Amino acid sequence: MSLGVLDEEYYVDTAAFRRYVADVVDVLSRHADAASAIAALREPFARLLWSDGWLPDDFARPAARSGMGGGIGSYLLYRNAERTLSISSLVVPPGAMTPVHDHLAWGLVGLFRGEQHEEVFARTDRGERPGAADLELVERRHLKRGDFYELIPPAGDIHRVVAANDQPSVSIHLLRNDVGCVRRHAFEPEAHAVKDSGPATSTWSAQTPVLDQTPTERERVEALRTLGLPRRARPDEVRAAYLTLARELHPDVRPGDAAAAARFQQIAAAYELLRRYQRQLAATSPLDPRRRERPSNFDERWWAAFGERV
Ligand SMILES: [Fe+2]
Repeated sequence: MSLGVLDEEYYVDTAAFRRYVADVVDVLSRHADAASAIAALREPFARLLWSDGWLPDDFARPAARSGMGGGIGSYLLYRNAERTLSISSLVVPPGAMTPVHDHLAWGLVGLFRGEQHEEVFARTDRGERPGAADLELVERRHLKRGDFYELIPPAGDIHRVVAANDQPSVSIHLLRNDVGCVRRHAFEPEAHAVKDSGPATSTWSAQTPVLDQTPTERERVEALRTLGLPRRARPDEVRAAYLTLARELHPDVRPGDAAAAARFQQIAAAYELLRRYQRQLAATSPLDPRRRERPSNFDERWWAAFGERV
């Protein structure tokens, strides 16, 4: 029986990567504060960035089903049992741009493959107006392989990333949270706006087998069909159909009826999938992939500063 105790999870299981994780865990056990832990983590992180062969290709390619849009992949490589440490790769294809986002944890971020431009922002308001945020551009960075930086919030915690040449950029993130599963923020600096990126919604990409993945359109339509609904059914219709069927098929109502029990499981799974779809739609709507294919916050001046164009 599960007591809700989580295990550590290795999505990348190469020997070199396991050795790296062991080094990190050892450092964290000896250094309680962020600054001294980061100082001790720098050397192994640099070694990881310069090592080859430890990151499987599946974790270094653009994501077909991208939660962030534009094919941007965010792959979980490792997280500890307490979910206070995650190591992930971020793959940004040429022409795609992440939204301006925060991380809410300290860590190290470095370039493994390709090149990357970043804009780093500082928040200048006090967060007193709901939905509003004033950001100031404080730094532009150009990262090449092996370059990395420290992140100790609030300093340097808000940024956006774009690949700097015609190759996808692959950066490695070591962070003191399960960054793909925490409630964070997406900013629109030009509009002085901020939105929650959703409560406990996983933004790890599809290739990472996480439980909280956004259902595909096909899965959604299939679930609607299971509940006897058309593809444009509204959430209240979904709930009503599920409740009607559940009252009819529940094992308490039909004891010993194996067919009804199997059908009940099907409708329960379909309803859960549709609820997850609704939750994630609500949570990620500010980060609508259609908007981010050509980012709404696209800043020509930024490109001009680097003398580059998509
Ligand atoms: Fe980031």
